[in-house]
Amino acid sequence: MKHFRQDPRDGNFVQNPYDFYEEVRGEPLFFWEDYGLVCSVDHAAVNAMLRDRRFGREAPEGFEPERPEHLKPFYDVEEHSILEREPPTHTRLRSLLVRAFTNKRIAALEPEIDALARELVAGFEGDTIDLLPAFCEKIPIIVISRLLGVPEDMADQLLAWSHDMVAMYQVRRDRAVEDAAVKATLEFTAFIRAFIEARRDDPRDDLITSLIAARDEGAKLSTDELVTTCILLLNAGHEATVHGFANGIKTILKSGAAPASYFTTPERTLATVDETLRFDPPLHMFTRYAMEDIEAFGHSFKTGDTVGLLLAGANRDPAKFAHADRFDVDRGGTGHLPSGPVCISASVRHWRNWKCALPFRSFSSGFRT
Ligand code: HEM
Repeated sequence: MKHFRQDPRDGNFVQNPYDFYEEVRGEPLFFWEDYGLVCSVDHAAVNAMLRDRRFGREAPEGFEPERPEHLKPFYDVEEHSILEREPPTHTRLRSLLVRAFTNKRIAALEPEIDALARELVAGFEGDTIDLLPAFCEKIPIIVISRLLGVPEDMADQLLAWSHDMVAMYQVRRDRAVEDAAVKATLEFTAFIRAFIEARRDDPRDDLITSLIAARDEGAKLSTDELVTTCILLLNAGHEATVHGFANGIKTILKSGAAPASYFTTPERTLATVDETLRFDPPLHMFTRYAMEDIEAFGHSFKTGDTVGLLLAGANRDPAKFAHADRFDVDRGGTGHLPSGPVCISASVRHWRNWKCALPFRSFSSGFRT
């Protein structure tokens, strides 16, 4: 296996990681020395490992990574996260989550998201706008707050907690980041736990009430799982969507075509969203554990080994996508990897159901600078 060096904190790499993905392409696996990790940008290999139950999200028993004591509050919450678990726990959490987080509930958000997007665009002042704080960050935090049923004036606080917690997954992590993440976890958990108890006595038409009520063959979410699921929906839903918007808007503006031309029909709007997720997705790497000894792609994985699956690199694989480095909305839905097999339908469904294109569409109709 070939070894490569690339500092993932390097500014040029952060702005354009695709040159490095092309440099390492050629074999199903490569060793990324800066991460000390076997990785892949090969679409066939990444897709296969996402679907292979011998590669899992949860460390096999006896191979759990060391967790420093000062990070205990953070990992105590993460332990109940659907994103960190394998079946049967994953199956139970997911069946309860989708009983509350229904298509009907998400579709009902459409007029609100549309109105909010137009309101934000109408509120832009001057000729130059920083879209991240003025638009991309606002929509998911307000929509997820409304969805959960927490007061909207908590949005900025939820955003700050979310940023501090999600920083734990970023390469710039250090002790200061860890301490801020633990502080945010304790505050966020206390807030949500109190909110859940209040909803038990005073049920409303919101997601937290539905999560409390969700039952499946007698199974229900424990309070710890309820707390973690609410935090996850915010953290997973917010960060990915903010950067999905921003990357998508940048790609459309740089394409040189009239922005409105991408939103002429609902089908073209969805094709545009899909292609922005393939061409420049917000989430680049997901890891999996070898749940047993595995011979795969010419490599011997030992039980407990980790592999880095570079979705963004796999989405630019010329063996899978013709002119892979070109943004082409007419290429048709071609099996790019916005999410793992576990939530392919979920993420595509929530993208589609989130009608994320609405802001683009409203954007193009209200497009100024
Ligand atoms: C552009 C937007 C988004 C992208 C690119 C994205 C991508 C992903 C990916 C790649 C995974 C799989 C992770 C893995 O297998 O390790 C995932 C899982 C998940 N995402 Fe998203 N996501 C987005 C938006 C959202 C939103 C808006 C929500 C909810 C409010 C959300 C909630 C979840 C949940 C709960 C899971 C775990 C699903 C499961 O394990 O069954 N995501 N997402």
